[in-house]
Amino acid sequence: MTAAPAEPLTAPDLDRLLGGPQPPLAPGPPRFDELAGCWHVYSYQDVRQVLSDGASFSQRYGDPDAHPNWAFIWVDDGDRHAARRAFVAGLFQQAMAGITPAVRQIAGELADAITDAPGGHFELMGALARPMAARVICHVMGVDVSEDARFAGWVDEFTSALAVTQTPTQPDMVAYFTALLEERRARPGDRGLAGALVAAQHAGRLVDGQPLTDRDLLGCLWGMLAAAFETTATGIADMLLFLSAYDGQGGLSAVRQDRRLVAPAVEETLRWCPPWPSNMAVATRPLTIGGERIEPGDRVTAWITAANRDPGMFPGPGRFDIRRHPNPHLSFAAGPHLCLGAKLARLEMRVALETVLDRLPGLRWDPGAPFSRSLGIVNRVETAQVTFR
Ligand code: HEM
Repeated sequence: MTAAPAEPLTAPDLDRLLGGPQPPLAPGPPRFDELAGCWHVYSYQDVRQVLSDGASFSQRYGDPDAHPNWAFIWVDDGDRHAARRAFVAGLFQQAMAGITPAVRQIAGELADAITDAPGGHFELMGALARPMAARVICHVMGVDVSEDARFAGWVDEFTSALAVTQTPTQPDMVAYFTALLEERRARPGDRGLAGALVAAQHAGRLVDGQPLTDRDLLGCLWGMLAAAFETTATGIADMLLFLSAYDGQGGLSAVRQDRRLVAPAVEETLRWCPPWPSNMAVATRPLTIGGERIEPGDRVTAWITAANRDPGMFPGPGRFDIRRHPNPHLSFAAGPHLCLGAKLARLEMRVALETVLDRLPGLRWDPGAPFSRSLGIVNRVETAQVTFR
C-alpha cells in the first residue's frame, strides 16, 4: 500500500477527539514514578518486552477474594495461566462458530433504529457502539444481560477505576451473576459459553488439575463480558469519529470509495488510540529494561499508547493513516496474555464500519456537538453526537 496523503488533524480537533486527560503518547526511556512507586515504560521495544516476558513478570496482583475479576485468566501466570487460558479459548472458539451473520444482524437492527428515529442525528456510544458490543458478547456467552442497565453500570464502574488494583468489590454484581449461573444449571443444554462452562463443571472437568469452582465460572463470565464490552464499544466509536473527522483527508470517503481500506482503517484506529491504554505487571526476577535495573517486586506500567507512536516502528506516528502498512500495534497486548477476543473485536469493528457505509453513509462528527471521554482502565468515549443526513 502507498503512503497516505492525510495531514494530521488540527490541534483543537485532536484535543477534542482524544479528550481531556490523555495517556502518554510519546515514547522515551523508562521513568520511575516516586509518588506511585512504579516504573513506566514507553518505547515499543520496552513495552513489548514487559507484555511478552511472562517468565519475568506476573499479572497476579490484587486481592484474590475482592472481586471475581481476580479469578479470571488475566491475573494468572505461568502454567496455571496457560492451562486455564487453553480451556477458556477452546470454549470461546466453539461459541464463536458462525458468528458473522449474527454480528451483521445486530448492527443492522441498530442501524434500523437510528434511521427510523427523527432528526438525522444520534449519540454514537448509546445508539450504536455500546449496544452492539454488549449484544454481540451476550450472543457469544449465551446470556442476555445486554439490555440490563445494571450490567453497563457495573462495567462502567469497574473500567473507570484508575488502576485495576482500585476496582470496587461490587457485591450486587456478584449476586446477579451467581443467580444467572444457578438459572443456567436449572436449564442445562443451553448453547453459548455460559452453558458450556456450567456443563464442563457438571462433567467434573479438571483444569490445571483442579475441578472448576463457582468462583472460576463467575470470574470467567464476568471477565469475558467486561473484557469485550467497553473496549470494543470504544474501538467502534473511535473509528467512526476519527474517520468522519478525517473525511476528505483519507477518512470515511476514502473507505467508501475503496472497501479494501476497511480492515486497515480498523488497525489504524486501534494503533492511534488504543482502548486499553496500558498494562501493569510486577517483576518476579531482576532484569534490565531500556538500560534501567528492575528488581523483583517492582511494578511496571507498560504504555501501549506510547509504544504505538514509536517513530522507530511507525513512520509519522502522529498521522492517522488508514493506508499504514505494516501496522504491528500492541493494542491487543502481546505474549501470554495476548487478547483472546481480538478476532471478534476486529470483526465487530469491520461490520460496524461496513454498516455505516451502507446505511449511514453521510455520518459526520460535529466538532461543536457534545463530546466527552474519560481515562481509566479503558480510555472510554462517553458521549459523541453525530449526524448522518
Ligand atoms: C477493541 C477491543 C479490545 C481491546 C483493545 C482489547 C485489549 C486487550 C488487552 C490489552 C489485553 C491484555 C490485558 C492483560 O494482559 O491484562 C486483553 C486481554 C483479553 N481480552 Fe481483549 N480486547 C478487546 C476486545 C476483547 C473481546 C471482544 C474479548 C472477548 C470476547 C476479549 C477478551 C480478552 C480476554 C479473555 C483477555 C485475557 C487474555 C489472557 O489473560 O490470557 N477482548 N485484551
